[in-house]
Amino acid sequence: MTRKIFVTTALPYANANFHIGHIMEYTQADIWVRFQRMMGQEVHFVCADDAHGAPIMIAAEKAGKTPQQFVADIAAGRKAYLDGFHISFDNWHSTDGVENHQLSKDVYLALRREELIEVKTIEQFFDPEKAMFLPDRFIKGECPKCGAKDQYGDACEVCSAVYTPTELKNPFSVLTGATPVMKSSEHYFFKLSDPRCIAFLEQWTQTPGRLQGEVLNKIKEWFTKDDEGYGGLGDWDISRDAPYFGIEIPDAPGKYFYVWLDAPIGYLASLKNYCAKTGRDFDALMADESLEQVHFIGKDITYFHTLFWPAMLHFSGRKTPNHVFVHGFITVSGEKMSKSRGTGIDPLKYLGLGLNAEWLRYYIAAKLNAKVEDVDFNPDDFVARVNSDLVGKYINIASRAAGFLSKRFQGHLSADLGVEGRVLLDGLRAHQGTIAELYETREFGKALREVMMLADRVNEFVDQNKPWELVKQEGKDAVLHDVCSVCIEAFRVLSIYLKPVLPALVAQVEQFLKVEPMQFADAERAMGAHQIGAYEHLMQRVDAKLLDALFEAPAAPKVVPGGEDLAPEIKIDDFSKVDLRIARIVKAESVEGSDKLLRLTLDVGEGKTRNVFSGIKSAYTPEALEGKLTVMVANLAPRKMKFGLSEGMVLAASHADEKAHPGIFVLEPFPGAQPGMRVR
Ligand code: MSP
Ligand code: ZN
Repeated sequence: MTRKIFVTTALPYANANFHIGHIMEYTQADIWVRFQRMMGQEVHFVCADDAHGAPIMIAAEKAGKTPQQFVADIAAGRKAYLDGFHISFDNWHSTDGVENHQLSKDVYLALRREELIEVKTIEQFFDPEKAMFLPDRFIKGECPKCGAKDQYGDACEVCSAVYTPTELKNPFSVLTGATPVMKSSEHYFFKLSDPRCIAFLEQWTQTPGRLQGEVLNKIKEWFTKDDEGYGGLGDWDISRDAPYFGIEIPDAPGKYFYVWLDAPIGYLASLKNYCAKTGRDFDALMADESLEQVHFIGKDITYFHTLFWPAMLHFSGRKTPNHVFVHGFITVSGEKMSKSRGTGIDPLKYLGLGLNAEWLRYYIAAKLNAKVEDVDFNPDDFVARVNSDLVGKYINIASRAAGFLSKRFQGHLSADLGVEGRVLLDGLRAHQGTIAELYETREFGKALREVMMLADRVNEFVDQNKPWELVKQEGKDAVLHDVCSVCIEAFRVLSIYLKPVLPALVAQVEQFLKVEPMQFADAERAMGAHQIGAYEHLMQRVDAKLLDALFEAPAAPKVVPGGEDLAPEIKIDDFSKVDLRIARIVKAESVEGSDKLLRLTLDVGEGKTRNVFSGIKSAYTPEALEGKLTVMVANLAPRKMKFGLSEGMVLAASHADEKAHPGIFVLEPFPGAQPGMRVR
């Protein structure tokens, strides 16, 4: 019977491009999906951008864009990565799509009907200048334990203490530098502590075969209360107050769903969007008892996917996931990725250097198993595995036999193959079930080891039969023909086993062999008397120099990025003549009759405001500027302009050749600066 499987990967936040961690997750899921398709299963493999939440709203504002535009710009960059690494999603959507707005409201209303939604008043830090409740990540201060400065609201990066934002000493808002105040507000909660939820989740998580052992152990911890009654499943705060980029909660003006409520519903929304595009019936598909629902995720988001998500689905009357497959993190030479320290591998740089995407797919697969273990990318190991296994063992089989076949036999394969050859091939075919089982259970490393062990056998067969000697001997044509035909048939079988990992390479193999796209079951039958095409080299070895280049910090550009020579040297006294001050942009508005200028009302701490015209309209919307701090020249002689008097100048960076390098970047001080402070 054909299985129907709905597969997803985690929805990436739409505030950055993909990093190597995303590529690893997509590669793992993609290999599993391609394997299922090769088994003849019906798979729907979808993903989407996770568009909502405060960080994205704030990043968009910083970029001077609407959140919608900001997210759309990130989405436009996805294709290069997905195509580049052969990730075969059927659909890519966004959690801000109409389907998700509708589905999220439906789920919420169903939970409310079940009396699983409760309103409670809570107190939270509020930024009085920005008029906004602050997420933990947007509050900083001194660590309550070790006193380290500039620590986030949830944990100290110096001493690793964990605390709540209210415990920070001298807290400030990362957005404005203002001291946050406590303010109360009504929040909506999903009652996860309800006995019905607990009973359901106990049964759901414990269902044999659903979750990995390590995940079950974690869940047990989450379920258990300690001696003082802490821990256990708590109710989940699912609302956020305006301003927020998200989905409005029905019957609750000014309240939005917390991004983690609507994010997983985005899985369903993307599937629904895909169904609409391809003429499928989404409701019928989801109602189909036999549809398996499978989510691939990283270990950091297990809680959301094994507790909140199944409970939301179940109590809104929907199908729950059959599996949540959790993977560990990828590290690079044993180090956690860090963008600031520049470690890690930039996936587009990898492709841009001409490194083969399938080398990385192969390497990741070779390192993966079904556990929640971290995976390390080690450059030397990478070169060794690709060069000695993938190319040295597998590709080598074809290159050793193909030349003789085309030169001596016009590419015709022998149908007989000889006794020894048939035994070898039967041995290869006998592993089909084991290898399929290893793919099915995500033991990709073991599957590849199995294939390489078989490749070793084939190479031994070649070494023993020595086609390069047979070709010189009288009357050995038939033997040579059999030996080379066995090699090609063996190469075909191994190609089938590797196809989930190496889809583009095996597509080339299929052309060379002149066969239809291969399914897993095609390993069982020989090609028989068949004519293959001419062999062209299928894959290069890795040049270790390319890997060095991958890890090199980008070379300093020869031309200064601004495209402008430095101005002549000055003395400190020259500089002191310029009085630079921190200014708050109290108000920003367009100027009628000018497409370049914005009129800014600036507070420079003088007890009155100043009026300044600034040529930054092309780069910023007025809303993006209001409330922000910047730097201005405060002792510039006032200048009369067509639109009024300008009492100073705001500082901004731009390229000398603004046409070729558009962009204007207004200066913003680090948090904590106050209007009127001198810049020196
Ligand atoms: N937006 C949420 C997921 C919502 S799912 C309804 C999110 N996004 S993320 O962009 O931060 O992460 C996306 C996926 O990448 C997650 O599964 C995460 O675990 C995974 N990874 C992030 N860093 C990783 C590594 N270093 N290695 C492997 N996977 C990692 O979380
Ligand atoms: Zn500390």
